[in-house]
Amino acid sequence: MPRRAPRVKPGRSQNGLPSGNIRSMSNTFDPRGPRPTELTYNSYLMVPELLELQRPQSNPVHNDEMLFIIIHQAYELWFKLVLQELKNALECMKQKRVLRAQHFVKRTVEIFKVLVQQIHILETMTPQEFLGFRDKLMPASGFQSLQFREVEFLCGLKEERYLTFFKDRPEYLERLKARLAGEDLASVFLEMLHAMDYDVPQGAKALLLKGDEAAKGKVLDALRSIYEEPETELPLYLLAELLMDLDEGLMLWREHHVRVVERVIGFKHGTGGSSGVSYLKTTVDKKAFPWLWEVRTHLIPRP
Ligand code: HEM
Repeated sequence: MPRRAPRVKPGRSQNGLPSGNIRSMSNTFDPRGPRPTELTYNSYLMVPELLELQRPQSNPVHNDEMLFIIIHQAYELWFKLVLQELKNALECMKQKRVLRAQHFVKRTVEIFKVLVQQIHILETMTPQEFLGFRDKLMPASGFQSLQFREVEFLCGLKEERYLTFFKDRPEYLERLKARLAGEDLASVFLEMLHAMDYDVPQGAKALLLKGDEAAKGKVLDALRSIYEEPETELPLYLLAELLMDLDEGLMLWREHHVRVVERVIGFKHGTGGSSGVSYLKTTVDKKAFPWLWEVRTHLIPRP
């Protein structure tokens, strides 16, 4: 049987690249390349500027310092997006738009899966190689990651003591103080339950932090009713589970980070002045939505 010639789009060669024949191409293709004023991949993404932003401190440059810089920069870029999407989720919850809130939390959960995995790239660096440039990093430290702290605060994990790491950067300090005083996912989720006629008191998160047992009982009862019959409140149940995924993502990031840190520097002190691994281990159990974790304990089998 004669074989049919493959169909090729106008202006394309068989390998899919522009064929170079001007007349057969769409009006927008110019074989001389884009005019300097036209938007290109590189100008849109500012690739030349981006590739200028890796400035190793070691001299001569230590090969692995480039890895160290790029991985941290990648984290900071993702943190930027996480902050944007968690803010979106928060606004949706304030408007009781449960499904839309799910959409944004889901995206951050997927990002966190990447963040948890990518820390392990650093394990391709031997402890000795890290020592080759570690002293050049002093006193810079992960403690100074403003965006990481903002992610924590926006979730509801607010600790004033971390402000101190930004006292020399007034604009960072202001930003973090605003997050500390502002709304967070944990409080807004509980407010949303109140607004949806669950018997959860207004200002529930503040009451829980004060150790108000009555408020805690009401929050757990409300959550139990959602968790015991997920089908009747499916959107709320799914949002609660996504918040669990987010909390778990943060916790897993901490666990993977501390394992990598121990593997690379053992029990040396951190460049930020902490006890290093011993300090990091005290953080791995932090929970932004502790009541979502606790409600499991109170569930009983359905008849
Ligand atoms: C070889 C790799 C790494 C080592 C040895 C390391 C070491 C440490 C140590 C010792 C601390 C405790 C604070 C201090 O005293 O400095 C810390 C905190 C931190 N590191 Fe790393 N780190 C590494 C990679 C990363 C990466 C890739 C990130 C990505 C963002 C990161 C983000 C952070 C953050 C946000 C904190 C604060 C954690 C908290 O207070 O809960 N670290 N790191």
